[in-house]
Amino acid sequence: MDKLAIIGGRPLYGDIEISGAKNSALKLMAAALLSDKPLALSNVPRLADVDMLLRLLEALGVETKRNGTDLTLDARTITSTLAPYDLVRKMRASFNVLGPLLAREHQAKVSLPGGCAIGARPVDLHLKSLEAMGAVIELDEGYVIASAPRGLSGARIAFPFVSVGATEHAMMAGVLAKGDTVLINAALEPEIVDLADCLRAMGAKIEGDGGPEIRITGVSSLNGADYAVMPDRIETGAYALAAGAAGGEVFLRGARLDLIGAAVGALEAAGIQLTARDGGIVAARPAERCVGVDIVTDPFPGFPTDLQAQFMAVMTTAQGVSTIRETIFENRFMHAPELARMGAKISVNGQVAMVTGVPRLKGAPVMATDLRASMGLVIAALGAEGQTMVNRVYHLDRGFERLEEKLVRCGALIERVKGE
Ligand code: UD1
Repeated sequence: MDKLAIIGGRPLYGDIEISGAKNSALKLMAAALLSDKPLALSNVPRLADVDMLLRLLEALGVETKRNGTDLTLDARTITSTLAPYDLVRKMRASFNVLGPLLAREHQAKVSLPGGCAIGARPVDLHLKSLEAMGAVIELDEGYVIASAPRGLSGARIAFPFVSVGATEHAMMAGVLAKGDTVLINAALEPEIVDLADCLRAMGAKIEGDGGPEIRITGVSSLNGADYAVMPDRIETGAYALAAGAAGGEVFLRGARLDLIGAAVGALEAAGIQLTARDGGIVAARPAERCVGVDIVTDPFPGFPTDLQAQFMAVMTTAQGVSTIRETIFENRFMHAPELARMGAKISVNGQVAMVTGVPRLKGAPVMATDLRASMGLVIAALGAEGQTMVNRVYHLDRGFERLEEKLVRCGALIERVKGE
């Protein structure tokens, strides 16, 4: 398995091109199943998770054409409605093919995504939404077997708590359902708006996305469309935090401040200046050190759980104490003991981590068990003294496009060490 060798202590200066959002691209790709006309996506990041979903879509009969960040998906004929375990277990977002298959083909058999390192992550809200639309769902040997012989019907669905995946799933099912669907307590994340924009470009009737109540009027079929994936707000935040850990000034080309929500205030309070400039954001840490800031992760526009590990990495060398409360996932502090190996002072008590900043971390061999945590370790390493070896780089390849290339261009000393 590949590793990353990083020698820290060099400030970052230069341009970083922000890629298309992974979490959005994966849902837009699933939406291609809703139409028998081609969906041409641009700004699709080149990531292992995208490759994985492409394999699944191909197994369902979708013709795919890829040229750099352009991807055309043609679901003229769906040849299979089975999403097998091997293609779903590695990436939870694959589960979102269930709704589109059910909406278009009136049946589907999709493997349950299974547990995940950051928490139990059930799919009960996804299934309840589809049942509310008239689907009959059975669970058998780890598979969801769903059918709706007469098609799905619009429904009023009130989510007991905010779920990004369930909101997206219900939206994709609702666009081809008979009648009106209303989603109450819907997720507000920018990826929801991106999906709604793409579905509207395909001819769907959706209103209210970006707010807590989404109203959908079902149509009998959707068209093809050309659609550009929005910039990745988590990648944006991660590189801004990298500048926070290492110092310097980077221009995040293509990034948008309005996508970052509460994280803007938290980063600025910590001493990372964010300035919108033509076509991107400048992120800089003018002072010698960041300062400790308390954060609570929350659904959008709150501080994103997907930036929590990266923020903690910066807090390890900030002046003063900071507390970090994780409210979205129950087991998302696994980076804390790894950061401690580099000299960080962190005490974790349930869902709260208290970080006491030290002047500098020291490089060490580290390993993370999920994607965003791995990026947290990279950020810590960029600011640390000496060499850090980050193991299990495949997590990073799932979600950060051309990571080493982007950082090397800004002066970082980072190299991939090929594994057997
Ligand atoms: C998406 C993102 C992920 C991000 C998360 C929260 C993708 C591919 N992934 O994940 O990067 O961290 O949003 O911003 O877009 N839950 C249930 N039952 C359900 C669904 C969710 O209990 O049926 C729980 C989850 O376990 C979690 C919480 O709800 O504790 C929020 O999860 P959700 O918003 O659904 O996250 P994902 O869509 O899985």
